[in-house]
Amino acid sequence: MNKLIIEGAHKLQGEVRISGAKNAALPLIAATLLARGWHTIHNVPDLRDTRTMLALLETLGAEWKRESSTLLVNTDSLNNFEASYDLVKTMRASILVLGPLLARMGKTRVSLPGGCAIGARPIDFHLQGLKNLGATLALEEGYVTASAKKHLTGGNVYFDVPSVTGTENILMAAVLAKGETVIKNAAREPEVSNLVDMLISMGARIDGRGTDRLTIQGVTRLKPAEITTIPDRIETGTYLIAVGTAGGEVSVTHCNPSHLPSLIEKLRSAGLIIKESENSLFVSRPAKVQSIDIKTQPYPGFPTDLQAQLMVLMTLANGLSVITETIFENRFMHVAELKRMGAEIKINGNSAIVKGIKQLKGARVMATDLRASASLVVAALAAHGVTEISRIYHLERGYEDIVGKLQALGARVRKEQE
Ligand code: EPU
Repeated sequence: MNKLIIEGAHKLQGEVRISGAKNAALPLIAATLLARGWHTIHNVPDLRDTRTMLALLETLGAEWKRESSTLLVNTDSLNNFEASYDLVKTMRASILVLGPLLARMGKTRVSLPGGCAIGARPIDFHLQGLKNLGATLALEEGYVTASAKKHLTGGNVYFDVPSVTGTENILMAAVLAKGETVIKNAAREPEVSNLVDMLISMGARIDGRGTDRLTIQGVTRLKPAEITTIPDRIETGTYLIAVGTAGGEVSVTHCNPSHLPSLIEKLRSAGLIIKESENSLFVSRPAKVQSIDIKTQPYPGFPTDLQAQLMVLMTLANGLSVITETIFENRFMHVAELKRMGAEIKINGNSAIVKGIKQLKGARVMATDLRASASLVVAALAAHGVTEISRIYHLERGYEDIVGKLQALGARVRKEQE
């Protein structure tokens, strides 16, 4: 296992290029299961999670090749319809093959994901949605077996709360179903719209892109796609916040500022200077940061995937901040580790009350999930002294070349074998 060693309290300077979004690339790769021929997906980040999704597709019979950041995938010779426990347990997003496999093969068997470090994370919305499209479902030995008679049929799907991968799974099932499907209270995340764009490029008929009501008219066949993965808004946000904690001046390039409305506004009210252009952001921290309150919400609200990183910024702000997590029930695992670095944080139900202090101090800390790990990096960059972050395989699931990118910004960071 690898660990990161970070000598903090050095300002970040220069330029960082944002990669394609993990949470967009995963459903785009899964959607290649819907049509024969070679699909082309540009700007795919090379991450542990995208590799896992490709390994899963290989077990189903797909072929793929990578040319730089462009991925070519062919699913002509599918010979298996099962996503095994071994793959699903390493990456919950494997559940994204459920909808497209059912639509293409008429049957599928996918392991139930189980809980994870940030909460129980059920998949009941995915299953109910597929039932509404005519699927027959059974749960056996930890697996969901789904089948459709001749084909799926259009239906109405309503989510109690908007689910990102739930919306994506139902979209991928509905595009080949007979008749009309309406998804109400659909997730509006940009990653869902990226998938809608890919499906439309394949010949799918979808209305309501970017809204909470998606209407799909099923078609009988789709053609291979060519699509570009959107920039990673969570990676973008993580670098913006890192400048907030460590200080400095950085240009964040190849990003999409319009995908970060709430973060940019919040960082500005905390005192950061952020200049926006179409595909880049310039960020600097002129003075000490002011405390702000945040509450995580579905898009376009404040993203839960940036809650841990923003909390680090608040540990160094003037005053008290209240951070409320409304999406996942157990997403404060970073708090205990941040306290080891001197942070003053109290948890009260689903809120964390953060009292700003002068400085964080380096310590040995442990990463528990992807975004918690990112928050420890952001903390370590600002902390006085050396921080050792172990179990960084979590980080490698979602941040392409984080060590190289931080080194290019002048951070003193290196990877070592534990
Ligand atoms: N929910 C249910 N039942 C379901 C599905 C969801 O109760 O069947 C609940 C969840 O427990 C949660 C809420 O609905 O309280 C929203 O969860 P959602 O389904 O939107 O989450 P997800 O699709 O499993 C994606 C991202 C997560 C991100 C969340 C929220 C991917 C591959 N994952 O997860 O990303 O936190 O949306 O924005 O897109 C990460 O990248 O670190 C990460 C965890």
